[in-house]
Amino acid sequence: MTIKLTWYGHAAFALNVGGTQALVDPFLTGNPFAPVSADAVEADYILVTHGHGDHIGDTVAIAKRTGALVISNFEICNWLQAQGVARTHAQHIGGGFQHPFGYLKLTIAHHGSSLPDGSYGGNPCGLLLTTENKKIYLAGDTALFYSMRLIGEEGIDLAALPIGDNFTMGPDDALRAVKLVEPQVVIPIHYNTFDVIVQDPHAWAKRVWAETSAEPVVLKPGESYEL
Ligand code: NI
Ligand code: MN
Repeated sequence: MTIKLTWYGHAAFALNVGGTQALVDPFLTGNPFAPVSADAVEADYILVTHGHGDHIGDTVAIAKRTGALVISNFEICNWLQAQGVARTHAQHIGGGFQHPFGYLKLTIAHHGSSLPDGSYGGNPCGLLLTTENKKIYLAGDTALFYSMRLIGEEGIDLAALPIGDNFTMGPDDALRAVKLVEPQVVIPIHYNTFDVIVQDPHAWAKRVWAETSAEPVVLKPGESYEL
């Protein structure tokens, strides 16, 4: 089966595994690069890394319209239930579960996770998906941390790392993250959406080519990478 990852700008992706569609951090309304609208996008699952508005985004509206199962941490799932989202699956950091689209484990991320109304959103996380003999690491919003090495030990085929700086790793730390995770392919995300996170992804990609063994892939919003 084909695994297709389509970037919707910022940290939003559609991950399609053999026709099953999982949205990741579906921040579409207010995202200047979103190639699809929240009232048209399709979803069987929605994966949410943390509570910030640029990640939980349109989760409530999309889940209500599509009936998608939302997977996130326990605190965010409770909050979503209170917003009227019927179907949630709570996990937590370090825990994995075999979903129909693959085995999803939540990883550490060093960041915040308050929800748009100020509610406590638990700890933020990254996503580590094993499916079709491939491993995909979506780091979420995070600082650089040394135990990315442990994630890399699993053998990462594709990683998506924030490079925007200010709220997350910037280009220098994201390059160090590539050296810790050692993915086959790395996609830069979480840049240029706001004034304070303007970066040149192609300049960063050149450094990845020069200094690491990973292949950088700079996607335009709406573009896909298949593996
Ligand atoms: Ni955030
Ligand atoms: Mn963010």
